[in-house]
Amino acid sequence: MHFEVSPSRVGAATVTVPGDKSVSHRALMLGSIANGQTTVSGFLAGEDCLATLAAMRALGVEIKQPSDTQMSISGVGLRGLRAPAAELDLGNSGTAMRLMAGLLSGQSFNSVLTGDASLNGRPMGRIIKPLTMMGAAIESSCNETPPLQITGGLGLQGINYPLPMASAQVKSALLLAGLYAKGDTVVTEPAVTRDHTERMLRSMGVTVESNNGVITLSGEQELEGCDVRVPADLSSAAFVMLAAILAESANLLITNVGVNPTRTGVIDILQEMGADISVENPQLLGNEPVADIRVRSSELVGCAVDPALVSLAIDEFPVLFVAAAAASGETTFSGIGELRVKESDRIAAMASGLRALGITVDESPDGAVVHGGRFSAGTVQSHGDHRIAMSLAIAGSIASGPVRIDDVAAVNTSFPGFCATMSEIGADVHEVGGEG
Ligand code: S3P
Repeated sequence: MHFEVSPSRVGAATVTVPGDKSVSHRALMLGSIANGQTTVSGFLAGEDCLATLAAMRALGVEIKQPSDTQMSISGVGLRGLRAPAAELDLGNSGTAMRLMAGLLSGQSFNSVLTGDASLNGRPMGRIIKPLTMMGAAIESSCNETPPLQITGGLGLQGINYPLPMASAQVKSALLLAGLYAKGDTVVTEPAVTRDHTERMLRSMGVTVESNNGVITLSGEQELEGCDVRVPADLSSAAFVMLAAILAESANLLITNVGVNPTRTGVIDILQEMGADISVENPQLLGNEPVADIRVRSSELVGCAVDPALVSLAIDEFPVLFVAAAAASGETTFSGIGELRVKESDRIAAMASGLRALGITVDESPDGAVVHGGRFSAGTVQSHGDHRIAMSLAIAGSIASGPVRIDDVAAVNTSFPGFCATMSEIGADVHEVGGEG
């Protein structure tokens, strides 16, 4: 399956994008181990979250799905999960793998977590090490990659752990294991990362303290089911935003988008580059801030991206590389080495994709310098990575001729309906060779 993108005329529109991936995963996991009913609306029915849904069902949780975006979870309580009959396949999802490893380390039964070729190549040492310090036993393949075999029934102890890298997945894995541990689990972050786990735990009645990057949770607290309303995903909105910014005269409103301050680095960076973005109608949806985001066409200027914003925009660097390529002058990215261990090596994937479209990119181990230019027509590779595919599609919308992006099936992991949303705003992105 590939995308064919033609130069487009993005205009004026009001659109929505699918639900937040991070919040959707957490709603399923936390709702499952809560007491009583949790209802979820605005759920992301993308393949990553559907893998978590299947895993929670395989662990004995009854979850009804009255519509694509609604879930009704009959929570089984902290100790109510049951041994799965088979290994749990988490597809392409690093979030599902790492959070589930934390959750399953605290259970009385054994389990095995596996994924697709990309996920089975991703580093898990970062969770295996601290979970082992808590008393878990996790066997991995060589190079600390999945499948993970988790031995249950060992009894966990809280630890005090300074995270070696800024990672919400590792933090969340430890907090989930911490629910099953004796004593306090204390995690210190080297930089602020998304705090959806902490917020949702609080919504469910759990005490989690957060002070200057030190997060503390006392073990064995019960969760109470609640209503979770999932905001639209800012990480998905970012593609739509950039398509409008790069267009000649667009004025788009994207409604009900999550603007949790641990996620909004992309807005800050684009504004620093000269983008006309305003955050309107801010409010709280449960414990999560949301707003409508208005974006108008703007001339972008290259900049040195502040490394302090990296963890707040971690998933948006592929699309920011496209912004940089379309800006005048040079844009310097530094401190983004984590991008090399995402669904693909995102620095290498974006550098080669942009070069194929005529842009000059200088790569370094943990950064890149992107030289602004004009996108030419061409064929590029997604490397099976949803965010690379969608970022290059945005480049295609202002290229001098057609752009073909190969291997785009993974877009369904996070943004089902991407082509339809692109068409709503006036962009011409077609999926070719799929099943329908
Ligand atoms: C996520 C955390 C981030 C992010 C991922 C979602 C989460 O990963 O890249 O898409 O939901 O906790 P890291 O924790 O590896 O940075």
